[in-house]
Amino acid sequence: MRTVILAEPDDFTGWRDAARALAAEAVPPEQIIWQVGEAGGDLFAEATTPPASVSVAFSVPRAFVDLARDVVLHSDAERFALLYTLLARLRSEPGLIEDRADPLIRRLDHLAGQVRRDIHKMRAFLRFREVADVEGPRFVAWFEPEHHIVRTNAAFFIDRFAAMRWSILTPALSIHWDGKTLSEGPGAQKGDAPGGDPVEDVWKTYYASIFNPARVKIGAMLKEMPKKYWKNMPETALVPGLIATAQARESGMIETARASIGGNIQVAWEALRDEAAECTRCPLYKDATQTVFGEGPVDAVLMFVGEQPGDQEDLADKPFVGPAGQIFDRALAEAGIDRASVYVTNAVKHFKFEQRGKRRIHSRPGAGEIEACRWWIDQERMLVKPRMTVALGATAARALFGRTMTISHERGRPMALPDDGGEAWVTVHPSYLLRLPDAAAKKEAFARFVEDLRMAGERAARK
Ligand code: URA
Repeated sequence: MRTVILAEPDDFTGWRDAARALAAEAVPPEQIIWQVGEAGGDLFAEATTPPASVSVAFSVPRAFVDLARDVVLHSDAERFALLYTLLARLRSEPGLIEDRADPLIRRLDHLAGQVRRDIHKMRAFLRFREVADVEGPRFVAWFEPEHHIVRTNAAFFIDRFAAMRWSILTPALSIHWDGKTLSEGPGAQKGDAPGGDPVEDVWKTYYASIFNPARVKIGAMLKEMPKKYWKNMPETALVPGLIATAQARESGMIETARASIGGNIQVAWEALRDEAAECTRCPLYKDATQTVFGEGPVDAVLMFVGEQPGDQEDLADKPFVGPAGQIFDRALAEAGIDRASVYVTNAVKHFKFEQRGKRRIHSRPGAGEIEACRWWIDQERMLVKPRMTVALGATAARALFGRTMTISHERGRPMALPDDGGEAWVTVHPSYLLRLPDAAAKKEAFARFVEDLRMAGERAARK
């Protein structure tokens, strides 16, 4: 038997070096014991070859390294052994990493997904509270991760809060940033972190501003914000009151809250976009490259909603940049609308397609996918609050109104949107223009489309 002692539970480098050496010697997985943090042990209790001198006899796909980096952070005690088993199999089955049906790949993918979700939850739900010490303000947060993600996540918080002095306390580890260097300390207890402070007001106001009483769904809220985190989040203190007064709340209250957070709308929008990047509300995330979120100024008065990203948008991570985007841009220009001044998004944020050989063929999103994705468009609209939202095609109209709409019936006039005082304008999707076979019909349809955009734009510009 070989015993590998890893320095820390998230010791990817230690696992990788040992695994390389063992794989080069063709040591079978069942002959290795993987252990974390036992002081005094050599890396290999019975190994003859130190890992540093091993020349690696085979290379592994990049996807394996990415998977291993995530899986190593999982709390499952078998993770190192499972990864090593995959590494050993890759020697004789180099294409295995692509085989989503293989039970080992499925299991490791599942572990990696849980780790990514935990990373995301730490980013989304951790809240700093302000304390003062002799050197000035310091921000302290308490978080209980499910996996060993704290070190990996440190870079995110340094990037976001580079100028602040902060500490993140967790049961297994604490990390501290003094504005220049990151240091580590032992685990802590919840009582070591302080209670409420003014920082919470920003979050409370943000939360009140995006809280839509007409759509209170506790189940959905809990799904996004697991109960485990509720007790630590200042904004959840607002929830009972918000629900109790749900019927009575006027949109004016939301306006007031929104106005008071001013520039934080941008911060809130970025937080929303980051959350959407991890969206698993429907299965489309599995095959798409990424979530393609909306883009544009958060104070835009005019918003455009398309159907879903296409092949090019999925790769570029930007809405409307492919063939439909080009015709959309041309129509905007003819309607006298500057694309940089408007907010452009899609009803469904992941590309749905059918793989045919090397080509990915667009496939229409279903009602369930549109419904699942309404969560994001609702929140984008609650933050941006456009005066006018243009639905480009039937999918967008359905997402905005929550029911099937016939474009030809609704086109050409402003319509009040449910819940929020904004207006919508329904028109065709630009790809409809691309599909028209006859040049004269195309020209006429394009002119009508431009006219729709112009009228919607003018209405949005009115005070
Ligand atoms: N079609 C859409 O509906 N949206 C895009 O972003 C691109 C094409």
